[in-house]
Amino acid sequence: MPTNLLLRASAITKSFAGVHALKGVSFELAEGEVHALVGENGAGKSTFTRIVTGALKADSGELEICGQKIAHHSPQQARALGVAAIHQQPLLFPHLTVAENIALSLENGEPGWSVNWKRRYEQARELLHRVGVDLDPKRLAGSLSMAEQQIVEIAKAIGAQAKILLMDEPTALLTDREVDQLFRLIGQFRQEGVGMVYISHRLEEIQKIADRITVLRDGRTIACKDAADVDRGGLIELMVGRSLASIFPKRDVTLGETALEVRNLNNPRLGLHDISFSVKRGEILGMAGLVGSGRTELARTLFGLSSCSSPIYLNGKPVRIGSPAQAIGMGMGYLPEDRRQHGLILEMQLDENISMASLNEVSRWGMVQRGKEARQGEEYVRELRIKANTASVAAQTLSGGNQQKVALARWLAIHPQIMILDEPTQGVDVGSKSEIHELIVQMAERGVAILLISSELPEVLGMCDRIAVFRDRTIAGTLLRDEATQAGIMALAFGHADPLLQEAEQA
Ligand SMILES: Nc1ncnc2c1ncn2[C@@H]1O[C@H](COP(=O)(O)OP(=O)(O)OP(=O)(O)O)[C@@H](O)[C@H]1O
Ligand SMILES: [Mg+2]
Repeated sequence: MPTNLLLRASAITKSFAGVHALKGVSFELAEGEVHALVGENGAGKSTFTRIVTGALKADSGELEICGQKIAHHSPQQARALGVAAIHQQPLLFPHLTVAENIALSLENGEPGWSVNWKRRYEQARELLHRVGVDLDPKRLAGSLSMAEQQIVEIAKAIGAQAKILLMDEPTALLTDREVDQLFRLIGQFRQEGVGMVYISHRLEEIQKIADRITVLRDGRTIACKDAADVDRGGLIELMVGRSLASIFPKRDVTLGETALEVRNLNNPRLGLHDISFSVKRGEILGMAGLVGSGRTELARTLFGLSSCSSPIYLNGKPVRIGSPAQAIGMGMGYLPEDRRQHGLILEMQLDENISMASLNEVSRWGMVQRGKEARQGEEYVRELRIKANTASVAAQTLSGGNQQKVALARWLAIHPQIMILDEPTQGVDVGSKSEIHELIVQMAERGVAILLISSELPEVLGMCDRIAVFRDRTIAGTLLRDEATQAGIMALAFGHADPLLQEAEQA
């Protein structure tokens, strides 16, 4: 390991109103090193990165950045010291363009500074190109999908030319193609001597790129290992404190009648065209494809979030779904990928968030019964192992992965017949992931028809009966469980065999 230390943290502690998020974290980052930080949801990873970026102040402990002891630093000071971060939840200004968002994070607008628009757009285009995506820098950030927002966040961090780059789940929403591109960039940065802290719940990624791995459990550093010295099983055991059995609990389910069908669905506003598919009761239909290929747009159309003139057949009958309320009334649930925009209300309590789509279940004579709502909330917190003291805390006090579980609980509570899950295990730790997979399988066994959108190919391959692969806002082909492979899915997603993937599989 190179001896030049960029970052040294020892015995860092941090509490939030009685919650001990960090109880003693030690961590080192050397020049040219990729140091992974792993741990279950709520272990303290994001809190630690926010202390390094100056967004939060530690209660105690020592922090050294590039050899300088730091007592309390501001985000501006951290930036000046060469620290940049890709945050777990993209933070873009929705009413500004992509280029403006990037410029805002890179320029230090001095008084009298005149904006060179042409340069800004060129710089944005250049950075996005380095991330490997073709995104128009003139688009408003508010119009981007979550994955696209994450890509802009990556571009911002790359543009900062940092010495220390903190990446908090940079790939949670990305597909293999974008992940490959990011890894290539990480490789370049490593050559240039940049130190990188890499947080991810996708353990196969960690094993691919990390030099060292530090495991956090309950706010403490419990191990720091050379990546070569620990395998997947060992890592899970360190994180969870126990070993885990099978990852994908998919079981065969006898399929029922067709629950949902669309024929040649078009939604010009979202660019969707000629989409035909059906899903039976008890069936899990996967939806794979690149970022922007139309999967989320289809989900939004089905759920009545975007109007569309093509009929949707529910149990064989054509219906028009004009709003989410109508969709819910017809037995449809939709867990969106974006927890902040259409997902949780962060200021509200967990139990209120959970009951939101099924208020009739906890109401009498049209009045919400608080006791019943709270009991239901506590049940889901227990069942999904949501890390919170009670169901009456605000959603914003939960870690990212635990918020995802609350969002899922809301849709379980409506007892849907058709469930659309958009990246349901995004940001969820390995233990919880297999629990969520088990819940999905149980739903299928109860006869729920499930559409599972996921950018993680192992998840799609492991969980689904059939896989519809999207390309250019339509379905390019559908594969049966037995015939589907990663390479086969990618070939459909690209319209040809992907040379990069073949290269990777041969390696
Ligand atoms: N503002 C806050 N108020 C109260 N508690 C908080 C706050 N922010 C974080 N916490 C708590 O601190 C703990 C650590 O959270 P953190 O977000 O660092 O976890 P994480 O390891 O990043 O998890 P994940 O993998 O889910 O993103 C959690 O128990 C969380 O509920
Ligand atoms: Mg986090």
